[in-house]
Amino acid sequence: MTTIHVINRDGSSRAIEATPGQSLMEVIRDAGVDELLALCGGCCSCATCHVIIDDAAMGWLAKMSDDENDLLDSSDHRTANSRLSCQVPITPELDGMTVTIAKED
Ligand code: FES
Repeated sequence: MTTIHVINRDGSSRAIEATPGQSLMEVIRDAGVDELLALCGGCCSCATCHVIIDDAAMGWLAKMSDDENDLLDSSDHRTANSRLSCQVPITPELDGMTVTIAKED
């Protein structure tokens, strides 16, 4: 299992167990974190699954597609570590990663 630490918008955090092969969005949503709306269900068309990844994990993430990059540009809260969680597959290397739910646009 891979442990992901999720920080909510109110600053509270929790540890979630993830299975490699799932998307980060699925892991967060299945854990009942309702701040992550993921309205399009992972089709890379809504940007409501926006998260901020900790520095240490950034080098282990799947490459960002042009579609994801364009969607993130529509957010007022984009940072250098922003990703759409539905586009991030869980891998064993991400064990211990910290993810912050981005502010709502
Ligand atoms: S769930 Fe819609 S873009 Fe990720």
